Amino acid sequence: MSDTNPKRPWWQDAVFYQVYPLSFKDSNDDGFGDLPGLIERIPYLAGTLGVDALWLSPFYKSPMRDWGYDVSDHCDVGEVFGTLDDAREFIRKAHEAGLKVIVDYVMNHTSDQHPWFVESRSSRDNPKRDWYVWADGRDGGPPNNWVSVFSGPAWSYDEHTRQWYRHTYLASQPDLNWRNPEVVEAMLDVLRFWLDLGVDGFRVDAAHQMMKDPEMRDNPPVPPDYVRPWKDMGPYDQFVHLYDYGHPDVHDVHRKVREVLDSYGETTSVSEVHIFDLAEWASYYGPDLDELHMPFNFHLMAANWDPASIRAKVEAVLWHLPEGAWTNWTLGNHDEIRLATRLPKGHERIAALLLLTLPGTPFLYYGDELGMEETVIPEDQARDPWGARVSYLSRDGCRTPMQWTPGPNAGFTSPGVQPWLPLGADYEKVNVEIELADPESILNMYRRLLRLRKQTEALRGPLYQGHAETPEHILAYSRGDGEYTVVLNFADAATELEVPDGEVVFSTHHVDREGEAVSGEVSLGPNEGVIVAHR
Ligand code: NOJ
Repeated sequence: MSDTNPKRPWWQDAVFYQVYPLSFKDSNDDGFGDLPGLIERIPYLAGTLGVDALWLSPFYKSPMRDWGYDVSDHCDVGEVFGTLDDAREFIRKAHEAGLKVIVDYVMNHTSDQHPWFVESRSSRDNPKRDWYVWADGRDGGPPNNWVSVFSGPAWSYDEHTRQWYRHTYLASQPDLNWRNPEVVEAMLDVLRFWLDLGVDGFRVDAAHQMMKDPEMRDNPPVPPDYVRPWKDMGPYDQFVHLYDYGHPDVHDVHRKVREVLDSYGETTSVSEVHIFDLAEWASYYGPDLDELHMPFNFHLMAANWDPASIRAKVEAVLWHLPEGAWTNWTLGNHDEIRLATRLPKGHERIAALLLLTLPGTPFLYYGDELGMEETVIPEDQARDPWGARVSYLSRDGCRTPMQWTPGPNAGFTSPGVQPWLPLGADYEKVNVEIELADPESILNMYRRLLRLRKQTEALRGPLYQGHAETPEHILAYSRGDGEYTVVLNFADAATELEVPDGEVVFSTHHVDREGEAVSGEVSLGPNEGVIVAHR
């Protein structure tokens, strides 16, 4: 039986699972995943795996230049994904199965095919001209030196109206002008549309990007001693991004979004805020916790993968949380190299244990529960526009089809159909069917851990204490009021750690360790993690 703390809202107790709908399950044999396919797999998510909430990447109308992050109608479903009725049915069936649903809210930009932009670019005096950010050029070039996240200038010239429009991402993703009150109203209506359809909240795309310096000052170039806080972003890393995100009025926008959310009861939101200065990042909660519920916490992904760095990062995040704020943790998404490939070999299980036992809401990425690896995509099958510009940044390798079976097309689509991205090379071994049959598979490990977490308030609650006196290859922390100790062995060799007496309630590798008595010290196999209960 679950002992959910009635004082916490649902989203603080939940484990979220990100579905990238294009790659989850194809129901109509066109090679793309879709909503009816996802509906088929609700029993897997809610029952077999046992997560509590889903985040769906975009499934809206889109010319698919950025695979759905270029929306041409926020209130309709893209053809490859199905229909609006499919979305309604999905939400209803997910709810029936006990799953909450949050959807992507792409607020910074639209597609250039969006009717708003088509109007905006039609003439300088069109009523929607000011719905996007237009400016005159400078010295025959763009208005300033801002670069697109995807490389190249963040401005494109429109021959017809002889002005430049701003785009933080692709030229086909023009930035909305959130300083125009009509844009604010129209975009808040998008939230209302989906909330009326029954969604429980939003993942807010590029949430710090839309408010930039109104004076449009040039960004300074990076100094020679610049230390990158995040992965190598290619040409985007040539500048210090002082002026092209996070102008203070971004917070007014988030407060307005939050007001809409609050008017629908207990909803939630997680905002994609790629900011690594912890104080600045934490400011996105708002001074009265009146902005988005959780800025996405990418700090664990940015930390060095060793016990001391992880512990320091975890505690720095917790220390910077404003009073009463709640965080979240993630180790993978549709923009990053899969964790099984990014982390040292054999560390995917301790990564899962860490993610699911830190104080805060965990976000899992589809396929990581199977240990899916990053796939090498042949050049002629590449799909990601970012990768086409800066090849090592390609995100295709983490977006390959979900691996359901060892059979043809991994059960993602029918035999003989060409999936939109190639299958992972490991699919014959790494898939749901094979792993369910093996009690010690990583999938069964996730299932055990999710069950234990659901039954154990201390593993979901806020109380955490890092252990200082551990050897350098061990990360250990207490959860609850010292009721549980989580111990992770980062070494490839067996080890042991002194802990208070108790009982092993979970091991990443050995089901039969559950119930093992612990007296004085707990032993750990190579890269093993355990939870010890002290009753
Ligand atoms: C962040 C999303 O996660 C990424 O996939 C997308 O390309 C950009 N925002 C633009 O929407």
